[in-house]
Amino acid sequence: MRESVLRIGIVGAGIWGENHGRIYSAMDGCQVTAVCDRNGARASELAAKLGASECFDDYTEMFAQGSIDAVAIVTPDFAHADIAVAAAQAGKHMLIEKPLATTRDDVARMVEAITSAGVRAMVDLHNRWSPPFNTAHQILESGRLGDPYSAYFRLNDTRWVATDMLPWAAKSSILWFLGSHSLDTLRWFFNDEVARVYCTSRKGILASQGVDATDVYLTTLEFARGGIAQMENAWITPNGHPNINDIKFNLIGTKGSIAVDATNHNLIQLYTEEATTVPDVLVQNSVFGRPAGFAFESIRSFADCLISGAEFKVSLEDAANGSLAILAIKESAALRQPVEVRYL
Ligand SMILES: NC(=O)c1ccc[n+]([C@@H]2O[C@H](COP(=O)([O-])OP(=O)(O)OC[C@H]3O[C@@H](n4cnc5c(N)ncnc54)[C@H](O)[C@@H]3O)[C@@H](O)[C@H]2O)c1
Repeated sequence: MRESVLRIGIVGAGIWGENHGRIYSAMDGCQVTAVCDRNGARASELAAKLGASECFDDYTEMFAQGSIDAVAIVTPDFAHADIAVAAAQAGKHMLIEKPLATTRDDVARMVEAITSAGVRAMVDLHNRWSPPFNTAHQILESGRLGDPYSAYFRLNDTRWVATDMLPWAAKSSILWFLGSHSLDTLRWFFNDEVARVYCTSRKGILASQGVDATDVYLTTLEFARGGIAQMENAWITPNGHPNINDIKFNLIGTKGSIAVDATNHNLIQLYTEEATTVPDVLVQNSVFGRPAGFAFESIRSFADCLISGAEFKVSLEDAANGSLAILAIKESAALRQPVEVRYL
């Protein structure tokens, strides 16, 4: 496939695409050789920052002409499928930003294209790399909690993410943007598929601020082997909250339980005349200039696994089934009735 260096192309030179670029560029054995954005100026700006020699405004051209072995797909939530299918057809391995896709048809055609091309694909469901969650999972695996019985997971964002950070928030939803992590984390802990969901939701706060998106989804999940869980995903945490994400997790097992508060931890607090905040030391920070934090570990892990040939920590099936469960949640919220998840 490659000689000595893994050559990566990035599609989507926005906020998160730049982070992908920084991480690959800082790794041994890996190089960003091409950047694509349909906004050509953005592509060339990021290519210059990363020292990538090739730059495109059309991903089909990048896949046909670019000197790349693998691609990072970092376009908005609803714009992953066409690019992934084209990458697979061009024989490129890929890291797709979460969620895999936002329609059933997109999930099916991506799985088909990736599987039949025999390329490798990972989806960036990075909460598995979060130190408190990863440690909790190791404790569960050790048997000290017994079997997972029930769980609760809140994963919320401040309003600013929907109103200011994402220009396309109204075309996605908090369920895709963060609920994809919640669902993946719960599937991972229960080691099981979600069979049935019941969701209620409310809309109004974001709409009143000009963003036509649902404010909050409260979901009950029933797993195939009997586990039950509740998932809270809201885009309406007040902006004065000390942390962009509000993260609370609690799992009860047959022998013990475990609780994670990844938001109001006491690791570090910053007090100024204006506000109290909790500087990020877990998700995306840097240590002596090197990107650190679990949101960066997952991206590094993708490149490491491609270089070493090791299995990805998140499989294509994990991501596909997570997206299909979220589609059932959205359907349940619309119908106000429980819905069975339909897998491929
Ligand atoms: N893992 C994480 O922690 C994390 C954090 C933020 C965002 N994300 C994910 O990353 C993805 C991108 O988010 P973002 O915040 O960087 O968005 P963004 O809007 O900042 O950037 C998206 C870029 O994609 C480009 N684009 C759109 N369609 C394209 C196409 N067909 N071909 C080429 N370029 C195209 C846009 O011009 C834009 O520059 C989303 O799926 C988001 O959920 C993940």
